[in-house]
Parts: sequence; structure tokens; C-alpha cells
Amino acid sequence: MMPETAPTIDLQRIGLRYGRGPEVLSGVDLRLAPGSFTFLTGASGAGKSSLLKLCYLSLKPSRGLINLFGQDVSTLKPSQLQVLRRRIGVVLQDFRLIDHLSVWENVALPLRVAGRARADYLTDVNELLSWVGLGHRVDALPPTLSGGEKQRCAIARAIIAKPDLLIADEPTGNVDPAIGARLLRLFAEMNRMGATVLIATHDLGLIDEVSARTVHLADGKLGEGLGPLRAA
Ligand SMILES: Nc1ncnc2c1ncn2[C@@H]1O[C@H](COP(=O)(O)OP(=O)(O)O)[C@@H](O)[C@H]1O
Ligand SMILES: [Mg+2]
Repeated sequence: MMPETAPTIDLQRIGLRYGRGPEVLSGVDLRLAPGSFTFLTGASGAGKSSLLKLCYLSLKPSRGLINLFGQDVSTLKPSQLQVLRRRIGVVLQDFRLIDHLSVWENVALPLRVAGRARADYLTDVNELLSWVGLGHRVDALPPTLSGGEKQRCAIARAIIAKPDLLIADEPTGNVDPAIGARLLRLFAEMNRMGATVLIATHDLGLIDEVSARTVHLADGKLGEGLGPLRAA
């Protein structure tokens, strides 16, 4: 049994470089307690997306240690990593929706992949789609959606399986502020239900909506607080 008090994410002395390039991250430590809500800020190119990729296991660090849910991921077999990945919901800037599947099928996908019976989740998927304002678009294909609709679809897919960890990379990038606020309420609701939330954003309006911890990346280092963003 893993202890319940283990941090959801515990990054220790992380270094990351791409190929022979300079270190994008150098000596980063980040510890997220279960049920915490954290914003990650930093200028464009500071390494926010890279840091998130490490957290959702789509990238390996050049050095340092990654513990997720109390487990050192470098010691895990691919099948065990797969189990961990299913506990993480991810919303990416480019949404990664599957174009030939309907909105409904896109959102239901994590449940299907997890082997759940369709009859089990019919209501959940319908309810969540209504909640995010896509009740009238369930049969639409992603290429026919507006930017805001694609984004809500991606967020619904990320949270349908009630992940223990929710990671979002600039989720309010291209939507109007009202939609942004609604999305944030969804994340806050997930957080109230126990999910650990980590959101990369440079949207100060978003950060002001909830009182949450803020960390910032600059020059490969992670610091507490907003950094120079507030002053800029
Ligand atoms: N796949 C990659 N290959 C090479 N360099 C990359 C790659 N991804 C990101 N980088 C570089 O790493 C740095 C940090 O990028 P990124 O993590 O996307 O920052 P942010 O999300 O804060 O804008 C940038 O200099 C970027 O050019
Ligand atoms: Mg980025």
C-alpha cells in the first residue's frame, strides 16, 4: 500500500535538455500535495509545457527524480506506467481530439479504454457534456466545432474518468473570458472532489479567480509566487 500522504507529484532536482541544446530546466523541485491547486506561470519558452510533459509522463528528464502518487516512475514497467497515466487527465493547447469520432465518443474514450461497460457511463457522459455546454453538439465531429467547443470537449474528456491528477497546458488560451471562467469553475469543482490540479497559464485574470498557489519558471529554475508576471 502506498501511503495516502505521499505527494501527488514530487519532482526532485530535475534537469531537462533537448538533444545537445541548453538545459531548459535545471535543478527544478516541485512538490504537489494531494488535493492541491497550483498555477504554473512563466514567459513563453520558459519551459512550462516541458515541465508538464514530465508530470504526465510523456517526457523523461535528463537528470533528477520523478515520483508520482508516491512511486518513483523510473523504476516502473511500461504496464505500471500505463496504470499511472490513467490516473492523470490532461488538457493540451491543441486539444488532440480524434477527428473521426463524435464529441460524445471523444469524451467517452478514456472510459472505453479503461474497459468500462458503455451502459455504465452513458449518463455520466451525457451529464458532463451538458455541463460543459456541449449538450447540443454530442454527434458533431471535432473539425466542425468552434475553438471554444473543441476546448470544452477536450476538458470533458480529461475529467470524465475522475482523474486523481488534472494537468492543463494554457487551457484558456483562445477563448473569451466568460468561457475561461467557466472552465476554471470546472477545474475548481474537480479539485473540490479531491483531484490535484496543475495549470500552466499566463492569464492573470484566471489566476485571480481562485486563491491558489502559484509557481513560476524563469531561467530553468522554479520559484514560488508569480515572479515578474504581475509587474509586467
Ligand atoms: N521537442 C523539443 N525539441 C527541442 N526543443 C524544444 C522542444 N520542446 C520545447 N523545446 C524548447 O524548450 C524551451 C521551453 O519550451 P516549452 O516547454 O514549450 O516552454 P513554454 O511552454 O513555457 O512556452 C524552448 O526554448 C523550446 O524551444
Ligand atoms: Mg507551452
